[in-house]
Amino acid sequence: MAIEKVFVVGAGLMGGGISQVTAMAGYPVVMRDIDEVALEKSMESIRWSLEKFAGKGKISSDEAEKALENITPTTELSDAADVDLVIEAVFEDLDIKRKVFAELDGVTKPTCILATNTSAISITKIAAATERPERVLGMHFFSPVPMMKLCEVIRGHNTSDETLNTAFEFVKSIGKEPVVVKRDIAGFVANRVGLAMTAVAVYLVESGVATPSDVDKAMRLGFGHAMGPCETADLTGIDVLTHALKAIYDETKDERYWPPELLQKMLAAGRLGRKTKKGFYDYSSGKQQDYWGD
Ligand SMILES: NC(=O)c1ccc[n+]([C@@H]2O[C@H](COP(=O)([O-])OP(=O)(O)OC[C@H]3O[C@@H](n4cnc5c(N)ncnc54)[C@H](O)[C@@H]3O)[C@@H](O)[C@H]2O)c1
Repeated sequence: MAIEKVFVVGAGLMGGGISQVTAMAGYPVVMRDIDEVALEKSMESIRWSLEKFAGKGKISSDEAEKALENITPTTELSDAADVDLVIEAVFEDLDIKRKVFAELDGVTKPTCILATNTSAISITKIAAATERPERVLGMHFFSPVPMMKLCEVIRGHNTSDETLNTAFEFVKSIGKEPVVVKRDIAGFVANRVGLAMTAVAVYLVESGVATPSDVDKAMRLGFGHAMGPCETADLTGIDVLTHALKAIYDETKDERYWPPELLQKMLAAGRLGRKTKKGFYDYSSGKQQDYWGD
């Protein structure tokens, strides 16, 4: 099935990024949010990002202009009536997502594929809100979307081969690298592996084996990671990380995903990472600085 027009629901950090990369690949995109201000802000940051790409010579000014023209912001869900693919990126809340999917099921063409960018919610539970679970799947992009190459393509319990293949080809067509997740498990693949590693890293810091900067150095220099687990945790946000670990633990009861005590203390203390200027590192000077004692 050919994808000719795309509808993105939610114009936040992820929805804006997904709209941008889809538009850059030449697709007409309708970006919908219930909040007019969020839509305006998103169009502004897309313009800013496109100008940055053009400034660095990665695309021409013409291409940046065309990409922007490809995006139509809207508050109307009924504008999804003629699209072939919807990518949902609203708040991470099962009830909200189920409501959005039930509404989309009512307004879109019966052939339209409905994808969710959820980080941790079961694709199967979201798909069950529709009459077309075979056309529902996960498309899990990574932040910042214009920079990060990976998109996990996740099969829900009822997702058809055709839906999975169409999504796989679409992801490639927008310049991303798809990884197929064959079963709908908590954390999918990247977070399932990455968060277990992060939990061990936090545990080693907590038990005094090494400082955050030494744990990070070990993973950067020993394994070629671009960033270590503690600096990644600060970038993600200690709150988001704790929530994601807890979500995997709740579903699996696998103790590797139980948020370590240090993480829970940092959460309670409001040391959430970059956004609060302090986490495993101190960012108050504008730079990442080590402050952890021995
Ligand atoms: N932030 C990340 O790093 C990241 C990475 C991967 C996946 N995700 C997932 O992507 C989704 C979106 O995350 P985000 O960080 O962009 O959130 P965000 O808070 O930046 O944006 C969410 C947007 O959804 C809008 N919204 C809420 N209900 C809506 C509705 N019914 N219809 C239309 N719009 C609605 C809000 O107004 C808001 O603008 C979540 O499921 C999240 O788990 C986030």
